[in-house]
Parts: sequence; C-alpha cells; structure tokens
Amino acid sequence: MALSLCFVGCGGYAARVAQDLGDARQELTLYFASRDAKKAKEFSDAYGGAGWFGSYEEAAADPRVEAIYFVTPHHLHLEGVQMAAKNRKHILMEKPIARTVAEAEQLIRTAKDAEVTLMIAENYRFTPTIAKCKELIGQGLIGDLRLVQIQREGYSEAKSWRADTALSGGGRFIDAGIHDMDAIVNLGGFPSRIYAATPRQVFPGQTGEDGMVLTAHLPGGAVGLLQFSWATPITEYREQAWVTGTKGQLIFKPFGTEVVVETPVVRRTVQLPEAKMGVPWMMREFAAAVREGREPLMSGQEGLNDLVCVLAAYQSVKEGRAVELQPPAASAAPAGRHRLTPPKSGKRHDPRSLI
Ligand SMILES: NC(=O)c1ccc[n+]([C@@H]2O[C@H](COP(=O)([O-])OP(=O)(O)OC[C@H]3O[C@@H](n4cnc5c(N)ncnc54)[C@H](OP(=O)(O)O)[C@@H]3O)[C@@H](O)[C@H]2O)c1
Repeated sequence: MALSLCFVGCGGYAARVAQDLGDARQELTLYFASRDAKKAKEFSDAYGGAGWFGSYEEAAADPRVEAIYFVTPHHLHLEGVQMAAKNRKHILMEKPIARTVAEAEQLIRTAKDAEVTLMIAENYRFTPTIAKCKELIGQGLIGDLRLVQIQREGYSEAKSWRADTALSGGGRFIDAGIHDMDAIVNLGGFPSRIYAATPRQVFPGQTGEDGMVLTAHLPGGAVGLLQFSWATPITEYREQAWVTGTKGQLIFKPFGTEVVVETPVVRRTVQLPEAKMGVPWMMREFAAAVREGREPLMSGQEGLNDLVCVLAAYQSVKEGRAVELQPPAASAAPAGRHRLTPPKSGKRHDPRSLI
C-alpha cells in the first residue's frame, strides 16, 4: 500500500524533489502543506497530490497523512518533529538534522519517545555513484582506503534565512557542504580529527561562511580532503570525487551515471542508472522503513554524526587548530562493514572484470 506523505513547506527544494520522485512515485500518495493555501494547492495540482493544506498543523492532524516530509529552514526542524510526533506521524527531515547537537539530540529523542520513524533526507546516501563506490571499496577493489577527496564549487549567494547564521546554524557548509561531509563519513568512516579553514569571503551579505576546506583523519589511516565553495566565480557548477586506495582509484561525480575505476594497468567505467539526485531510492527507503518498522539507512543518528563533523569544522576554523572528535554511539561504518542495498534498477557488476 502506498505511503501517505505530506510535503511540509512548498519552497524551492520541495518542487525539485516532487519532480524527481521517479519510480518512488507509485509508492507514495502525496499531500502538500504550506502557510499559503494557494501555494499548497498549486503544488498539489502540479505534482499529482491527493490533497493540500493551508497550514502545517492542519496537515499534521489529518488522519489521511501517515508521514511528513519537512522541507523547511533549519531553525524549524526541531519544532516540526515535535508537531509530527505529537500527532504520531512518521518523519522524513531535510538535512541538516538541526543547527546544534543539543537540538539534534532532542529531535531524535522526541521521535523515539513517540515511536515514529525518523529519517534524514540526506540524498547523497542514495546516489548510485556513492552506493557503488561503497560496494566496490567493501569488495576490496581498490585495496585499503587512503584518501576520500571531494571538490565541489559553485557560485550562489545565500538569500533569506540561509544568509542568517542564527536561522541556518552556519553558512554554506552546514547547508550544502554537509552533503560532501556525509559522503566522506559514509565512504571512509567517522573521523577522529578535523582541521578546517575558510577561504576569503566573497559574499558580504551573509553572516556565515561561503566556503570550507578541510582535512579529516579517518579510521585505518585514511584521510578525507574536502574543498567546498559556493563562492567560486565560475560559470558552471562542478563537483568531482576521487576515492583512492592502495591498489586503485574510483573517480565519479556524485550525481553522475558512472564510476571510473583506475589502477596502474587499467581504466574502466562502471555505468549506473540515472541519479535523479538520489531521490527515488531515498523515498523508497523511507517508505520501506516505515512499513517494516525498522531504522532507516539514513537514521537520525547518522544525521547527527554528519552534524557533529560540520560543527567540528566550525570549531576548528574559530580556534585555528585541529579538533578531536569522539566516535558517536552508532557511527557510520566504513565501507565493507555496512552493506547498502544497491538501487533496484542498478545492474550488479562483477568487480573482478575491472582488474
Ligand atoms: N538535499 C538537498 O540537496 C537540499 C537542497 C536544497 C535545500 N535542502 C533543504 O531543504 C530545506 C528547505 O530548503 P529550500 O531550499 O527549499 O528553502 P526555501 O526555498 O526557502 O523554502 C523553504 C520553505 O519553508 C517554508 N517556511 C516556513 N517558515 C519559513 C520561514 N520562516 N522562512 C522561510 N521559509 C519558511 C516555506 O514554505 P511555505 O511558504 O510553503 O510554508 C518555504 O517555501 C532546508 O532544510 C534545506 O537545507 C536540501
């Protein structure tokens, strides 16, 4: 049976997700809620909704709605979860889980006490490229992990709530760079130390940073290296990742449809299904976790782990030194210890054919 899911907040990203549901669409009955009833109805009409609400509270109280997807600014994430939990609705929460560790812990506790499913909508966990890399690393294809390197650059000034650190919890790093942090944690494991620096600020109108460069000490002697910037004066957004082991390297764009595998003797390409930003698999996983009453792959704890890394980077910048991190209670295991289910439509690939 389809899961009745209400989008709460009809803003820019809600529209993109509604368009990118792909094969998850058939597993969902959609509703839309906005503070503006006209906008909610427009979304419902545009994306095949079964209904719409002119207030978030009305949506949360409606018995037709089983689960709520919060696509709202970061300062509203905790109160959204409180409202959903009060009404016993399952929760898909946009990243970052919250602005602070205290908020995130309260948010996780609230969902747990209400016995509802909480998943963080970290779509990078569900891109075919990152999932394939994790699988290939786990199979030992590139040997022992040495370096997880991501470069992501664009040019976009933060506006509205995003330009205000009090509302967003930081600058562009907690908002967008958290995806890259998640990829590093997901592929390489939870870091024990982070050293970060912010490049010269370009956009003066935002109170938070517009870029972040960091190194992260990962389990087993591997290193994470991130160069993230939303203020690089270029015409085209670019993102590239290189995951290097002792025997080879994996090269990919997170939203791409291929992973290149390179060793000193061979270079091959693994073709993958269209990414659609990881949204279809993410939504299928949420629906399945609710139906099966199990912890989703991207749990509240995983969202908290990413936030802890982001906040450690902020602390490192502020104090001008490396920051040590405590392993969280249930951290993201490095590749090989935590098996991901590949996307339904993805073809199984025999890595032995690559070397
Ligand atoms: N996973 C990703 O790649 C990705 C990408 C972009 C954004 N996001 C996340 O999605 C969430 C929303 O981002 P967005 O880009 O969609 O933001 P947005 O365009 O500003 O939309 C946010 C929506 O939240 C609602 N809202 C409620 N109170 C608000 C307030 N005080 N100020 C502004 N909006 C308020 C509004 O919906 P109504 O007017 O309909 O009530 C608004 O349209 C954030 O958590 C963000 O980090 C994720």
